[in-house]
Amino acid sequence: MSLEFRQVYPDATILAIETSCDETAAAVVKNGRQVLSNVISSQINVHKKYGGVVPEIASRKHIEMIDEVVEQALVDAQMEMGQIDAVAVTYGPGLVGALLVGLSFAKAFAFAANKPLIGVHHIEGHIAANYIENEAFAPPFICLVVSGGHTHLVHVSDYHVFEVIGKTRDDAAGEAYDKVARTIGLPYPGGPEIEKLAKLGQPNIKFPRVLLEEDSFDFSFSGLKSAVLNYVNKCNMTGEAYERADVAASFQQAAVDVLVAKAIKLCKQRGLKKIALAGGVSANSFLREEMQKACQLENFELNIPKPIFCTDNAAMIGAAAYFEWMQGKTAPLDLNAYPGLKLGYRI
Ligand code: KG4
Ligand code: ZN
Repeated sequence: MSLEFRQVYPDATILAIETSCDETAAAVVKNGRQVLSNVISSQINVHKKYGGVVPEIASRKHIEMIDEVVEQALVDAQMEMGQIDAVAVTYGPGLVGALLVGLSFAKAFAFAANKPLIGVHHIEGHIAANYIENEAFAPPFICLVVSGGHTHLVHVSDYHVFEVIGKTRDDAAGEAYDKVARTIGLPYPGGPEIEKLAKLGQPNIKFPRVLLEEDSFDFSFSGLKSAVLNYVNKCNMTGEAYERADVAASFQQAAVDVLVAKAIKLCKQRGLKKIALAGGVSANSFLREEMQKACQLENFELNIPKPIFCTDNAAMIGAAAYFEWMQGKTAPLDLNAYPGLKLGYRI
């Protein structure tokens, strides 16, 4: 299929749309790796005052922005509607109302332009961000996916073959960052705030590293989150002063220690030598550095997307779509949104 595909589409150009959470995003991507445009309209400032994403507001904001964002992606790529070869869109997991906005727009665009539609799993998109601007990077590898809603250890044995070996049993890594940030009075989204503040502190508070059973690759961050909350509450009750930067640095060290240890262990167990990071938390410089150090010690290759391709964007959806399409997988125009879509399953 793939040879034949490349003959028919030597320059497969995909318009990709992503609206699963609080970014309205569109991109044009050529051959899965070359980003011709990448437009992201963030709603963060709207949700900030509520301390998290309000689903109803997210859907409305997507409706307001989607037209403009897609138009800008085409203009930036210097392409007309008819020059696009296919339209890709995230159809799950995510907020159902938010997903439906991107999905409806993509279906209408594909129908009007008479182009194939490709449905993309949001997490497969995050994983595919590793192929962007990186001709040499290819499966097999172990991918640590750390986002606001997911924490997965995935064995990616081929572009379209995903085996989830471990996942969080409670909070996702990004969720833990966001909740700890709120505990110490930092605004939403907490990840980048914790990262900044931690640079000014020392990891001198002993928070738990939850490794679970010896043979498990699952994660659990709720104990760590509660430990931080208990520490802060205790200090507040006893009137003891605490350094917020030390809390941030100690939390971050505990979370990253576990993420790095499990990814390295799985890579060894599977006899692989390649690790990739994906998802919003992989924009975190401390995680990037600690994973780099651990990979150097083991002589593993490490790939991490540029920070702009770690957090939600549509270029990653265009990258994943290319490899889906190459497998002959296109979607019908009655494709629905699936808020709980599992990685590796096909609708
Ligand atoms: O992948 P993403 O943009 O959206 C989801 O699919 O969930 O991830 C968002 C999550 C948020 O929890 C946010 O706090 C976290 O990624 N995040 C970070 C950083 N940038 C975003 N966490 C730690 N350090 C960062 N620099
Ligand atoms: Zn995401």
